[in-house]
Amino acid sequence: MRAVTWHGRGDVRVDTVPDPTIQDPTDVIVEITSTGICGSDLHLIEVLSPFMTEGDVMGHEPMGIVREVGSEVTAVKQGDRVVVPFNVSCGTCWMCSEGLFSQCETTQNRSQGMGASLFGYTKLYGQVPGGQAEYLRVPFGNTLPIKVPEGLPDDRFVYLSDVLPTAWQAVQYAAVPPGGTLLVLGLGPIGDMCTRIARHLGIEKIWASDVVPERLRRAREHGVHTIDTTKQKEVVGAIRDATDGRGPDAVIDAVGMEAHGSPLASAAQKATAMVPDAIMERVMTVAGIDRMAALNTALEAVRRGGTVSLSGVYGGATDPMPLMRMFDKQIQLRMGQANVWRWVPDILPIPTEGDPLGVDDFATHRVPLEDAKQAYADFRQKKNGAVKVLLQP
Ligand SMILES: NC(=O)c1ccc[n+]([C@@H]2O[C@H](COP(=O)([O-])OP(=O)(O)OC[C@H]3O[C@@H](n4cnc5c(N)ncnc54)[C@H](O)[C@@H]3O)[C@@H](O)[C@H]2O)c1
Ligand SMILES: [Zn+2]
Ligand SMILES: [Zn+2]
Repeated sequence: MRAVTWHGRGDVRVDTVPDPTIQDPTDVIVEITSTGICGSDLHLIEVLSPFMTEGDVMGHEPMGIVREVGSEVTAVKQGDRVVVPFNVSCGTCWMCSEGLFSQCETTQNRSQGMGASLFGYTKLYGQVPGGQAEYLRVPFGNTLPIKVPEGLPDDRFVYLSDVLPTAWQAVQYAAVPPGGTLLVLGLGPIGDMCTRIARHLGIEKIWASDVVPERLRRAREHGVHTIDTTKQKEVVGAIRDATDGRGPDAVIDAVGMEAHGSPLASAAQKATAMVPDAIMERVMTVAGIDRMAALNTALEAVRRGGTVSLSGVYGGATDPMPLMRMFDKQIQLRMGQANVWRWVPDILPIPTEGDPLGVDDFATHRVPLEDAKQAYADFRQKKNGAVKVLLQP
């Protein structure tokens, strides 16, 4: 089959690799029809490169048609339409029954000291072949695939794999009180969807910051107040002005470890190579990139006694945190990989009844799998209006 494979920092290609096969009686093989490229995939070709191996199949946002089922699979059959969550979770262990699917005890990577395996996501998370491919082997066929109805386009359902549950969890963890204010840092697919879900759940005062013009425009079109900078001082100033000087009740960091915004030279140079000058110019006036910039802005911006909800992925083992400030401000901090199945029952009815979250035109690019290399380049450099890319094998 054809698949998107990892070859090095900034280097993905479409290669021919062996077709997946049934290995356990509960496996299913899914023929992929749509599969997203995610901000998390960018970490794999940037700072998480050391945890990748040449030839690894990328991708964790797939959906498609069941083509083959193992002898013990009863929950789905050939021809069923399914979305595959990015967590490889068994659905039956203690953690899964607590709703903590990203901590599944059946697939936890104990030798690495890490949580549940993830599709297409490094040695730290099981080195499981991913879903940017023509076919995908999915374990736990009775509990993992999400069966979705026929008759509506893939775009209605494909984001159940990651974007929707991740953004839903971020908003739930933010716990904005009635009438409260939410600030979202980063308007990539995750931050953008956080603002839409927040509004859907009744939060009216929503602010967001980024520097990519079309991302800011998309958010404004959905009624979000945008702050057109990532500089901490300016973001904090703008949001305090809007909240009687207090700061928002909650901040979602939808940026993660490749944030631009504060001075640290070596990381800065790597990241600036990836974003075109026009955009970096503005953030470079404060001297570059710090992996913690967005998190630090979140901690500074949130009101005293407020909540910071981290959906952006962080990877540093010993990153320093401003604990005195956090303690004194009485900040609550919640984070983690999304527990996809925890939120599926809440989300699944939404796209079957209409399109209140605007998923039908959420993707800016739908391209054949063969064009993945160019699509990655555009998404990484935020070129050609690329916000969300769906590959269609
Ligand atoms: N927790 C989870 O389960 C989960 C799931 C999916 C994605 N993620 C993570 O969420 C993050 C966002 O994903 P995405 O697909 O939207 O990625 P993305 O890279 O498209 O979006 C990140 C956005 O943040 C902006 N940005 C950079 N620095 C900023 C700063 N200091 N302040 C404000 N904005 C800044 C960028 O311009 C960009 O638009 C990534 O870290 C990704 O790994 C987490
Ligand atoms: Zn993703
Ligand atoms: Zn489990």
